Amino acid sequence: MAHVDDAAAIAAMSRQLIEHGLAWSWDENRVERCLRNRDCVVLAARDRRRLVGFAIMEFYAIHAHLNLLAVQPGFQRQGVGKQLLEWLEASARTAGIFKVHLELRATNTGALAFYEKLGFRATSRKAAYYDGREDALRMLHDLTVTSTSPAEPQ
Ligand SMILES: CC(C)(COP(=O)(O)OP(=O)(O)OC[C@H]1O[C@@H](n2cnc3c(N)ncnc32)[C@H](O)[C@@H]1OP(=O)(O)O)[C@@H](O)C(=O)NCCC(=O)NCCS
Repeated sequence: MAHVDDAAAIAAMSRQLIEHGLAWSWDENRVERCLRNRDCVVLAARDRRRLVGFAIMEFYAIHAHLNLLAVQPGFQRQGVGKQLLEWLEASARTAGIFKVHLELRATNTGALAFYEKLGFRATSRKAAYYDGREDALRMLHDLTVTSTSPAEPQ
């Protein structure tokens, strides 16, 4: 679990890896508010003490919303993002929540492939969602559906 001391590093990662080129909406104060909110879970992945990844999920009555997820470039494609997401989804299941929603930049093909691999499906496209100029894809993971992706050839 992340700590309030991680807020600045998480906000910086969000700016560099997720919100680059957009107005900065997840600044340190917003991350800190989430860290203090009991309906929001902020998860940290560390290499020794260094923050190498994080995820923020907000829990509502019947669904959860994945706000942010990022892994430092030098640590990507090593299963860190998958572990963060699966931990949060296991928590959602335990809480009796079986729908996880998210939005991502429509141009973010790497993250799109990642989420599809982990069972999310695009449900709609929201025109000019970011800063009134960049489209978002809305995605949903139905946690009652167990298979995450088609079986890979043996
Ligand atoms: C998207 C992101 C969080 C994935 O984290 P990660 O730790 O690299 O992902 P994992 O190693 O757990 O990947 C699991 C699987 O997802 C798929 N995947 C992950 N990144 C992918 C990419 N860039 N392109 C295609 N498939 C990808 C692969 O199938 C991968 O398994 P494999 O490496 O065995 O092939 C990471 O790339 C990232 O931080 N990107 C920048 C920030 C961002 O775009 N966040 C999402 C929007 S909020």
